[in-house]
Amino acid sequence: MSSSNSNKASNGGGQQQEQLVCVTGAGGFIGSWVVKELLLRGYRVRGTARDPGSSKNAHLLALEGARERLTLRRADVLDYDSLLDAFRGCSGVFHVASPVSNDPELVPVDVEGTRNVINAAADEGVRRVVFTSSYGAVHMDPNRSPDAVLDETCWSDYDFCQHTDVKTCQPLCFLCRLVHCVSVPQIHPYLTPKPLVQNMYCCAKMMAEITATAEAARRGLQLAVVVPCVTTGPMLQQTLNFSSNHIARYLMGTKKTYPNAVAAYLDVRDVARAHVLAYERPGAHGRYLCIGAVLHGAQLVAMLRDLFPEYPVTAKCEEDGKPMAKPYKFSNQRVRDDLGLEFTPLKKSLYEAVVCMQQKGHLPVIKQHQRSYL
Ligand SMILES: NC(=O)c1ccc[n+]([C@@H]2O[C@H](COP(=O)([O-])OP(=O)(O)OC[C@H]3O[C@@H](n4cnc5c(N)ncnc54)[C@H](OP(=O)(O)O)[C@@H]3O)[C@@H](O)[C@H]2O)c1
Repeated sequence: MSSSNSNKASNGGGQQQEQLVCVTGAGGFIGSWVVKELLLRGYRVRGTARDPGSSKNAHLLALEGARERLTLRRADVLDYDSLLDAFRGCSGVFHVASPVSNDPELVPVDVEGTRNVINAAADEGVRRVVFTSSYGAVHMDPNRSPDAVLDETCWSDYDFCQHTDVKTCQPLCFLCRLVHCVSVPQIHPYLTPKPLVQNMYCCAKMMAEITATAEAARRGLQLAVVVPCVTTGPMLQQTLNFSSNHIARYLMGTKKTYPNAVAAYLDVRDVARAHVLAYERPGAHGRYLCIGAVLHGAQLVAMLRDLFPEYPVTAKCEEDGKPMAKPYKFSNQRVRDDLGLEFTPLKKSLYEAVVCMQQKGHLPVIKQHQRSYL
């Protein structure tokens, strides 16, 4: 973690001691880092989880400052009263919780859950909500020119997301493929397979973001939207989240080919800092697109092989012989200029993600490797 942004003293931690803020989905990959960042900056934090007593949330209570300034509350985004209870007395809410799934049945959790969060925050007199969107709500538009620069004005094409499946929307929808690939039965045999015909994750994130924006405007609530792309880096939680599992599958050799597709990446600590900066900066509002690097699948696996040659990372493209998908251009100027966010190099982020997965027992330690990125 860059000390410049997380140093409590340099960010007026003393003044923030009194402020109570709430993080929904506190135990998840991104939520946990948002909680950690807030605690380091001196906030009192209330984290929500559907089962706060579960061992999967135990890591939160071990964070620096947690004993004095973190409490966990049970809340489900579909249970309005639980949200009112969680937001009572809070000046800020970070709405991170969301199913990361292409299951159409979970879309209402995202959309109605977000409507509930915004209204409960307004009812409880919260000053500002920071909402976690996704670049799946931004980049999926087959008609966008390859020369266009992806920025905060861009939206995915809803119909395209709704009517294409994870196979046919290649090369655009790397993100939905990612969500899809951890849902298929041969990887998670305990999951009941459901037919996946739509990119519902992207649809859900689009609708949730639009709902958040409309409801916040209607209720006169300040809203800032953080729009992360595929997020990597070390996990605080014990269980593997989807985007970490995506990297783990390449290292385990269970992913036999890489897609002829490009994807955008950033580090989870940068995502957390973006959330807190979007909360703290006076006047921060609207979308902040957080993209650190855009890589073709071939470049991603090459980077992993370079960092960890001892693992059986595939070198085979699933579309051998076809022209390589072109990278898209993007702008992260708003988040850099207005919020002052600096991006962690992807190689460092991937390295630390893998070491963390080894330490947590998700990956075998094959042999002591060199710190080749340093
Ligand atoms: N990771 C990425 O690459 C990425 C990229 C772009 C955007 N995002 C966005 O970032 C956010 C967090 O993602 P993540 O990767 O950290 O996922 P994660 O580790 O799976 O965490 C998701 C969280 O959502 C909570 N949740 C799910 N359904 C809920 C419900 N009905 N009520 C309350 N909480 C519920 C879960 O809480 P429980 O503990 O109660 O299960 C969990 O803590 C999501 O909004 C996601 O769309 C993620």
